[in-house]
Amino acid sequence: MSLERTPREIVAALDEYVIGQKSAKRAVAVALYNRYRRHQLNEQLQKDITPKNLLMIGPTGVGKTEIARRLATIVNAPFVKVEATKFTEVGYVGRDVEAMVRDLADAAVAIEEKAAYDRVREPALKEANKKLIRLLAPGEKKQQKQNNSNNMLQMMNQLMSGQLPNQEEEQQPEKVSDQVLNERLDLAEKLDRGLLENREVTIKVDEAKKSNPMMDTMGTMGVDMGDMLSSLAPQRKVSRTLPVKEARELLVRQYSEKMVDRDQLQQRAIKRAQDDGIIFIDEIDKLTSKQQRNSGEVSREGVQRDILPIVEGSQVNTKYGPLDTSHVLFIGSGAFAQTKPSDLIPELQGRFPIRVELDDLTTADFIAILTEPHTALIKQYVALVGADGVKLTFTKEAIDKIAEVANQVNKTSDNIGARRLATILEKVLEEVLFDGPDMQMGEIMITEQYVAERIDEIAADRDLSKYIL
Ligand SMILES: Nc1ncnc2c1ncn2[C@@H]1O[C@H](COP(=O)(O)OP(=O)(O)OP(=O)(O)O)[C@@H](O)[C@H]1O
Ligand SMILES: [Mg+2]
Repeated sequence: MSLERTPREIVAALDEYVIGQKSAKRAVAVALYNRYRRHQLNEQLQKDITPKNLLMIGPTGVGKTEIARRLATIVNAPFVKVEATKFTEVGYVGRDVEAMVRDLADAAVAIEEKAAYDRVREPALKEANKKLIRLLAPGEKKQQKQNNSNNMLQMMNQLMSGQLPNQEEEQQPEKVSDQVLNERLDLAEKLDRGLLENREVTIKVDEAKKSNPMMDTMGTMGVDMGDMLSSLAPQRKVSRTLPVKEARELLVRQYSEKMVDRDQLQQRAIKRAQDDGIIFIDEIDKLTSKQQRNSGEVSREGVQRDILPIVEGSQVNTKYGPLDTSHVLFIGSGAFAQTKPSDLIPELQGRFPIRVELDDLTTADFIAILTEPHTALIKQYVALVGADGVKLTFTKEAIDKIAEVANQVNKTSDNIGARRLATILEKVLEEVLFDGPDMQMGEIMITEQYVAERIDEIAADRDLSKYIL
């Protein structure tokens, strides 16, 4: 964490995607930076300082989940986002809460894996290219073997001695004639110049493991039984014929796997998850007991009790080893529309000491949301319709109009925040999206009048807008 972003930088990065919500962004940024501060302290102090977990509270559709989603891409920390409603109490069929910690371990392993594979990329690429040349111009022995392929006895011997069938060629030095050698030199040069990228080769790859849906529910036993069992089964190899450019990536992967020390990688990942991990628990308000009385589902409060030890800090078994959650940062989030944070069980409330409220979005925010973020809706539609060869533009007044209507409909019908923009825009662009591919003219300008013609009537009619917008 040496090149840590400061809180200001984290907020600036979030600003590129999320409009407004300043205090929530600041709180998230500080919580993240605090962990970096903690790393600077001596070990004893590090142990004593636990993260200040954070609760984001705000109406629906104002950016709570969006902040979390963006946070994940900004910080290079293991991050998982879970829906509190997906969990069931231990002992019931469904996902138990410890699954979130196992997911965090997976996320950390993925980060470490990427880093480790990047480090060995160069030598692995070299090996992959060498292998490609051997495949494109096989030596004599290989050719002979291809002729009498089903040599059962040989295969049995290999299996008995613990060799996987595909390893043998690397272990026996190949005898190569001058002719083949020359051919290989020639191929090496062509490969180097990128001339063989589409030539097909046949390589052996791991057969995709079939996942067993029954196993997914077995998480309650403390480890992922499904993963454990499938890792015990020997990995089967299958032959696949692919263009060189795709085969190369698979080969790089295979060689990287051999060059990387899995055990070490997993240990680093566990440490990273423990020190830097972030778990975002969405819809945490749906776990309140008030909610439960209306729904009559399995005990929501039971899920809260199950979550408690994880948030307080406990060891959870993952397939990479035990993971201590004491310093994992938890961010809870919920609309708390009919409920309050104080409807959560007291112990859990206390574990989320930092509360931030998100603001209702204004018409001005809607305008910004439509146009500014990298992923802004208007940008998305312009790109989509652009794929038909149609140039779509919006006048400023048209965008203002869309934002105003969204605000108005949110007031008269349900307030669903920025999500309203998506439904309105879809309605406005209905014809464009339908006719786009057949359209002769290359340009469409959406004006205020165009918007008004398509939605004013619907927006004014309360019942109609409920269904359509
Ligand atoms: N402040 C914002 N800036 C940019 N986009 C936003 C903002 N708020 C909402 N959006 C857009 O609206 C959509 C819904 O927002 P989001 O998923 O963050 O809602 P939420 O606050 O988590 O609501 P809920 O309580 O219903 O889960 C997002 O996909 C995003 O595109
Ligand atoms: Mg959400």
